[in-house]
Amino acid sequence: MRDRVLKLAELITTPLLPSDYLDLVDPLRSGADLRGRIEAVLPETRDAATIVIRPGRSWKGHTPGQYVRIGIDVDGVRQWRAYSLTSHLGRTDGCIAVTVKAIPDGKVSNHLVHRTKPGTIVQLDQATGEFVLPAERPAKALFVTAGSGITPVMGMLRNHRELADVVLVHSAPTRDDVVFGDELRALAADGRIRLIERHTDVDGMLDAAAIAELVPDLAERATWACGPVGMLEALEAHWAAAGLGDRLYSERFRPTVLVTGEGGTVSFTRNGTTLEADGATPILDAAEEAGVLMPSGCRMGICYGCVLPLREGAVRDLRNGEVTTAAPGDGVLIQTCVSAAAGACDIDH
Ligand SMILES: Cc1cc2nc3c(=O)[nH]c(=O)nc-3n(C[C@H](O)[C@H](O)[C@H](O)COP(=O)(O)OP(=O)(O)OC[C@H]3O[C@@H](n4cnc5c(N)ncnc54)[C@H](O)[C@@H]3O)c2cc1C
Ligand code: FES
Repeated sequence: MRDRVLKLAELITTPLLPSDYLDLVDPLRSGADLRGRIEAVLPETRDAATIVIRPGRSWKGHTPGQYVRIGIDVDGVRQWRAYSLTSHLGRTDGCIAVTVKAIPDGKVSNHLVHRTKPGTIVQLDQATGEFVLPAERPAKALFVTAGSGITPVMGMLRNHRELADVVLVHSAPTRDDVVFGDELRALAADGRIRLIERHTDVDGMLDAAAIAELVPDLAERATWACGPVGMLEALEAHWAAAGLGDRLYSERFRPTVLVTGEGGTVSFTRNGTTLEADGATPILDAAEEAGVLMPSGCRMGICYGCVLPLREGAVRDLRNGEVTTAAPGDGVLIQTCVSAAAGACDIDH
């Protein structure tokens, strides 16, 4: 009976579906694609803000340290980006929050921080990510963060009050640029964490040797690190050399590009666009630059939101240099956010 009523409703409402009307009236209802409504944009620093979002009823919750993919229209184009969740799990209003730092020329980060208004509806994915504390909490923890890398760690600090011995080493250009600066200093004043702030404008960049000096019992601590790729690589090398590689967990906001090569001509069969791409630029970036509307998500090879079939040609994985080739009709799936053209290639999009 229900199916027949729905069929009838579909006939009456064509070309829109009944669900399209329901989406207009109640975009957060369960059963709809997961969406969220931005309830508030709270400035944190001159270029960072916390975005409070009321998720749709099918939101399944998250573990502190995880991230959520957010789809938002910027200049009429739907863009997807990943943001770490910073909210308290126990919020009584049921909202979640992410904290975004606007980067120079960043499409989505500037839009969210400077131009988004409460009431905006965004698309969401369920939370995901492995950058979380283990079920058995470490007796001693060290967090090393820089810039917006504080966000997943703030999510953990706000929710894991049971951590007894925490050192946080955080670096930002100046004291005023420290996102959550007041809250972190208050946690330190309460004795919940030992906070080591490094302001790079006066102190210079944070390096692994300096951290080892600042935290003498580093070898006894499980360490979580999040920040620029260069900082994470230096920490990973230092921890590995000290035989502590398995006690360091890092979260990257961008992929590590290891290998580049010759580019080529990329054509998008269904879209009809053809462009020249160099061997160092992800096909996703090159296509968006040329105005092609592309599926995307984390933009760093972990969510598979950007996968498209390669009909013919060759692409190189920028993380390891591996070349994937497709003969006509093969339709091999490639992650466009970490793949660059390696000669001519034809993508089914
Ligand atoms: C798992 C995960 C969690 C994340 N969590 C957060 C978070 O909590 N808060 C937050 O602010 N960001 C976070 N990010 C980064 C975020 O997803 C976007 O990459 C960032 O907001 C930039 O997007 P944009 O559209 O503004 O920049 P784009 O328009 O995509 O890029 C503009 C320019 O900046 C460069 N660029 C892109 N991303 C970065 C970056 N992260 N750092 C420096 N240069 C960059 C690009 O190469 C390009 O040249 C996370 C990323 C991942 C993968
Ligand atoms: S956008 Fe996430 S894997 Fe490519």
